[in-house]
This record gives sequence, structure tokens and C-alpha cells, in this order.
Amino acid sequence: MEPKLKHNIILVGFMGSGKTSVGIRLAERLSYRFRDTDQVLEQKAGDTINHIFSVHGEEYFRNLETDLLNELRLGMNQTVLSTGGGLPLREQNGKLLKEMGYVVYLKANKQTTVKRLKGDTSRPLLQGEELEQKVEKMLNIRSPIYEQVAHKIIATDDKTINEIVHYIMESYLKQIY
Ligand code: S3P
Repeated sequence: MEPKLKHNIILVGFMGSGKTSVGIRLAERLSYRFRDTDQVLEQKAGDTINHIFSVHGEEYFRNLETDLLNELRLGMNQTVLSTGGGLPLREQNGKLLKEMGYVVYLKANKQTTVKRLKGDTSRPLLQGEELEQKVEKMLNIRSPIYEQVAHKIIATDDKTINEIVHYIMESYLKQIY
């Protein structure tokens, strides 16, 4: 028998896919707590993600993400958790996410993503030239992984935040009741 689904929603997806804005609204609607792995890691480190990457490198940051997941999964309940775009890439993280609750992949295509991320300076992996090529390459690698960890995939390109929240709530509530 499948283990009972925990009452949490976990949002995964590429940078700029709306995980934080959707997560905040969704948590309000469900009267759940909202948490964002990037925000928690920045608070814990007392440092920005950009600076953590530049001083310690990506591997170090990925270890912080895995440690945080292991910490959060113990007591997390009635929470919407928005995750950093690279967090599901480690296989062990993907497994943990699925155990922690209902995983929703907010899918956005290349055009939407590039439009949203143009001029952004807060994401270390997208700095420098050729944003479009970088996004394309990373999306090709990551999309199948996001799809694999998700219970539900939502195409967000033509939807408002309220519409996305509505779709998530509809499918989540069917799962838990
Ligand atoms: C990353 C995504 C970022 C942040 C870090 C790395 C990634 O989070 O964790 O810059 O590898 O995709 P957002 O998806 O919230 O931008």
C-alpha cells in the first residue's frame, strides 16, 4: 500500500517559474505555513546565495540544500515549501521531496523563462552572456528530472498566479480527502 500523503505541498521548477509567488498565495489560501529553501538557507548562513556560490562553490550550496531537506522533513506539516531550482537534481533530494508531500512542478517554457529572468542579478548560474542558450541547455537537462519527482505538472505560461493556485488546490485537495 502507498504511504499516506503528508499534508504539505512542495513546489519545484526552474528559476523564474513562479515558485515563490505561487507558494505564498497558495499557503494563504490553505492557511498553511510558507517556507522557501533559498530564504531559509540565506537566513541560516547570514549571507546571500550569490555570495555563498562565489566563496564556497555550487557543491557546497547543494550540500546545504540536502542538509536542510533532511532537517525540514522531520517535522514539516501543513506547509507549502518552495524549493530552489537545482534542489531536485540530486537523486536523494528528489526521493526526500516525494516523501515530504505533494510535489508540484511549475513548468514554464524557454520564452517565458528568459523573459522573466532577463536582467536578474540574483541567480549565480545565469550571470554573464547568452541567457537564452543557458536557459535552453539547463531546461533540457532539468525538465525530465522535475517531471520525474512531481506528482503533478502544471504548465504556467499562460496562467495567472490565481489560476495556478486554483489548479494546485483542486488536485491537492482531491488527493488528501
Ligand atoms: C538555483 C536556483 C535558485 C537558487 C540558486 C540555484 C538553480 O533558486 O537556489 O541560485 O540551480 O536553479 P530559484 O529557483 O528560487 O531561483
